[in-house]
Amino acid sequence: MSSNNTSNELLQKTTEEDNCLKEDEVTPWKVCATSTGGIDYHKLIKKFGCEAIDGKLIKKFEQVTKMKAHTWLRRGLFFSNKDLSKILDQYSEGKPIYIYTGRGPSSEAMHLGHLVPFIFTKYLQDALGAIVVIQMSDDEKFAFKGNKEDKSVEYYNELTYKNAIDIIACGFDLDKTYIFSNYRQMGKELYYNTVKINQSTTGNQIRGIYGLDLNNNMGELSWPAFQCSPAFSSSFPDILHKNGEYGPLHPDGSRDYIGKQIYCLVPMAIDQDPYFRMARDFADKYKKNGYLKPATIHTKFLVGLGGIKEKMSSSSSSVPTLYLTDSIETIKNNIIKHAFSGGKDTKALHLKYGGNLYTDVCYQYLLYFMDSDEELAKIAHDYRSGKMMSGEIKKIMAEVVGNVITQHQEKASKVTDSIIRQFFTRDREFNLNVYERDDVVLESDEVYDTYGINFDTTFGAIPPEGAVEYEKEQMDKMN
Ligand code: TRP
Repeated sequence: MSSNNTSNELLQKTTEEDNCLKEDEVTPWKVCATSTGGIDYHKLIKKFGCEAIDGKLIKKFEQVTKMKAHTWLRRGLFFSNKDLSKILDQYSEGKPIYIYTGRGPSSEAMHLGHLVPFIFTKYLQDALGAIVVIQMSDDEKFAFKGNKEDKSVEYYNELTYKNAIDIIACGFDLDKTYIFSNYRQMGKELYYNTVKINQSTTGNQIRGIYGLDLNNNMGELSWPAFQCSPAFSSSFPDILHKNGEYGPLHPDGSRDYIGKQIYCLVPMAIDQDPYFRMARDFADKYKKNGYLKPATIHTKFLVGLGGIKEKMSSSSSSVPTLYLTDSIETIKNNIIKHAFSGGKDTKALHLKYGGNLYTDVCYQYLLYFMDSDEELAKIAHDYRSGKMMSGEIKKIMAEVVGNVITQHQEKASKVTDSIIRQFFTRDREFNLNVYERDDVVLESDEVYDTYGINFDTTFGAIPPEGAVEYEKEQMDKMN
């Protein structure tokens, strides 16, 4: 009986993996690349109807916010958007905007990949002086995982507060940030918007957008509206529209917010985009009621240690995950032992052909976490030419990522219960002011042209003769 179960599970797994071999698959539940070259992000931008972030937009970002672009913008890691330009226009006209993102608390510990959108959201909070609301979707995780993991909704709710430590440690400004458990706080205006979204969405649309069907439970099927509703400012009138216009008193003493809404920007990993396509469609239908389409900005996935075909994930079992709570020794060991190398199998081959920067997991991590372009360019050239060995780049990456996590752990250790409590408290004063800043020195347009989607992540490093052909041969063998 149990062996039967196992083989069934295996069968299911192989067919799932097979499915993925036809086309890159990026949904809120599954991310999987068909080629050893990783996910084709250009294709994804087209498929999702988004726009690439190019040098022009980055220049506008710097001009308007008076902040230098984050390394991740410049290097094309936050690579896609909808209406970011509109948000910048609002900001430059002195009109308020706000930021919404979220986290499904599904594991005790968050990993390094989870941190990327939050580090960037905190940067956007500074750049735009904006209020940030963070939805902890414990109810979502209960709907999607509760049966499989045999866990209660209270369990996922506990994870909300555990995960909040790592989120707060990213440095969010308490006076400008509200974090909430969706399970405990869904109600009032958030619920009013959820009601409207659910009423305007058919089951067929849910099936079409998310691939869910009638075998899914009702929690899963109705989840999308809950993720969409915080993207409308009328869901938080007490925070965002304190002095706005309210309608007449209802018999129960409540009032509706009837004033103007403000624009929302949602930073996220690209797999969450389906929710916000739905939110934008809804806003279109409710335009006459003052609903505004949320703007989005998307990050690529931080790849797993096992190779660039997979994102870092808590559920992948073949290679270890870099958990933020792991000891630094464990993290470094895991990197040295398991990071997929773009280097060659023998020293002689490596000296001849050098390392493949695209498939080398350590190099990909350095793109995120090594700030200096000069240092990174040198590594790119030395590793690509074969001068730097794969052991060396691993050591460098282990050091850099080790430092990032050490610093994070120090900040996380200072997040007390009382601090958590404050972030989760809704009834308090929020700071809606934006910051005054001096202009920044802008680059020339030629420099901006090399930013964002056009950024050369190899820094001009040229593969040795025959290396590309050799690497292609090796990849074909693996596929
Ligand atoms: N669905 C996301 C997850 O599974 C969590 C989430 C909730 C979210 N609201 C969001 C992500 C808004 C991005 C933006 O992790």
